[in-house]
Amino acid sequence: MIGVVVLGALGRMGSLLCDTVARQDDLTLVARVDPAGEGAGPDGPADDARGAGVPLFATLDDALAVVRPDVAVDFTVPGAVFGSVAAALTAGLPTVVGTTGLSDDQVDRLSALAAERRAALLIVPNFALGAVLLMRFAAQAARYFPAAEIIEAHEIDKVDAPSGTSLRTARLMTEGGAAHPHAADETRPSRGLASGGVRIHSVRLPGLVAHQEVVFGGVGETLSIRHDSLSRESFMTGVLLAIRSAPSLEGTTVGLENLLPATTAAERLEE
Ligand SMILES: NC(=O)c1ccc[n+]([C@@H]2O[C@H](COP(=O)([O-])OP(=O)(O)OC[C@H]3O[C@@H](n4cnc5c(N)ncnc54)[C@H](O)[C@@H]3O)[C@@H](O)[C@H]2O)c1
Repeated sequence: MIGVVVLGALGRMGSLLCDTVARQDDLTLVARVDPAGEGAGPDGPADDARGAGVPLFATLDDALAVVRPDVAVDFTVPGAVFGSVAAALTAGLPTVVGTTGLSDDQVDRLSALAAERRAALLIVPNFALGAVLLMRFAAQAARYFPAAEIIEAHEIDKVDAPSGTSLRTARLMTEGGAAHPHAADETRPSRGLASGGVRIHSVRLPGLVAHQEVVFGGVGETLSIRHDSLSRESFMTGVLLAIRSAPSLEGTTVGLENLLPATTAAERLEE
């Protein structure tokens, strides 16, 4: 049985995850952490969020005084994720990070902390299987097309832009060796953000969940690869895979593709 603590447990992703973990035979939800539940505790006030009945704490330290989880999962907010994940790693907990918005420098620092504390760090910009496959297909196509741009769309109150998924997609496309000379054009201000040689355009609208299209341009043709998360349920299979994998991982892992079965190391990054 793997004991799970969910950080950001009262949020949209966190509360759905609490509900999902509670329904698994091999996982047990041992604590929920969210400052929005301030005043709550093992004997604190009841709340009506999903996962209710499992102790709710304002901080991870409060939770660790009472329970000992095997894995921490972070679905907090970009402004809190660094401190939240650092606290989990400092406590020696294998930590799954779903929250986006960490800078490269913050990832490096958390990675160093994970190594020091011998606790696995698993950062997953997108837990949806279709989005992971989109990234792989886009990395493949980038070898053959001279230009590509990404259009990503999310709910209106998503704090970070561009999305972590689009940044990861751009990085994988560039690692494939593709050169996109048009991305260097800085003369037109409404051309999106150039990241890793690929321009990213961010749309934020009510009603959306998570959507991404990569459009490649060639000689007299275009290729579009698109993925849509229509509900947050689309992320849960991937989060459960990450939770079950985390206790046996070492060091830092970025991307769910590294956990998928029947994927060779070469396929992961070079396909
Ligand atoms: N990786 C993925 O596949 C994926 C999928 C969907 C969303 N996300 C990301 O997950 C994050 C959460 O999304 P959401 O829609 O649930 O956000 P949300 O705003 O609904 O919930 C965030 C929760 O975190 C809590 N919180 C803030 N600071 C905290 C702290 N220090 N400790 C514990 N909890 C804290 C807030 O009180 C809130 O309840 C966002 O960054 C979003 O982009 C990732």
